[in-house]
Amino acid sequence: MILIEGAMEEEIAYFLSILEESEKKIIAGYEFYEGKIKNKRVVISKTLVGTLNATIATTIAILNYEISMVINQGIAGSHCLDLHIGDIVIGETCRNVNAYKMPIKEKGEGSNSLEWKLNKRALEIKKADTKLVTIFEENLFSSGKIVKGTLGSGDVFNREYDRIMWLQETFQNLSEDMESIGCYTVCEKFLIPCIGIRVISNNELLGESIDKRVALELQKNVAAVLEVL
Ligand code: 5AD
Repeated sequence: MILIEGAMEEEIAYFLSILEESEKKIIAGYEFYEGKIKNKRVVISKTLVGTLNATIATTIAILNYEISMVINQGIAGSHCLDLHIGDIVIGETCRNVNAYKMPIKEKGEGSNSLEWKLNKRALEIKKADTKLVTIFEENLFSSGKIVKGTLGSGDVFNREYDRIMWLQETFQNLSEDMESIGCYTVCEKFLIPCIGIRVISNNELLGESIDKRVALELQKNVAAVLEVL
């Protein structure tokens, strides 16, 4: 069974609208919808927002359904000057961009996030399944650009130009979301192939503010790829 995850209602609504023989379960407050899309057995999971929620929801799904692969998809912020609203990032790798140890500063010395050092979790590079990466590269459609690379992920919505540039130089991430690192980490532990696919909903570097409507087109395009999975 293929687990398809989205954090918010807008990120799973289309999948639910085409889901056949749907059976809903709520486990510990997390919603799961088992059924069929394009004759494939799937579970749609509303993970809720944030790395902890994504981690919990992914774990619950794996322990309660026969999951053979996981697709974590949804909206993300762009960390590049040439990635705009509607463009798609295929997450070949995923990095925790919110795990730091900072140098000591005494009372009154203030705070400077550009000086923070990466801790062990931030140095880890999580990998998507290489076959899934190829399948999505070859079959995913978008009216915008499609690029492959690193998803940045953490419980943070960065909106400072210099901070975003520092992150980009440090992690070489193309985008930033709040769930994919939870999914990649759980799948690594359970040895289940996974992939993260993110559509750009905002680019804080360019003042392109968040437009959640792009989540719909992404779902349609991901659903089309299910046929070849
Ligand atoms: N930074 C972090 N998360 C973002 N999201 C969209 N844009 C960003 C961004 N710039 C996604 C997260 C979360 C919700 C806020 O939207 O994954 O689910």
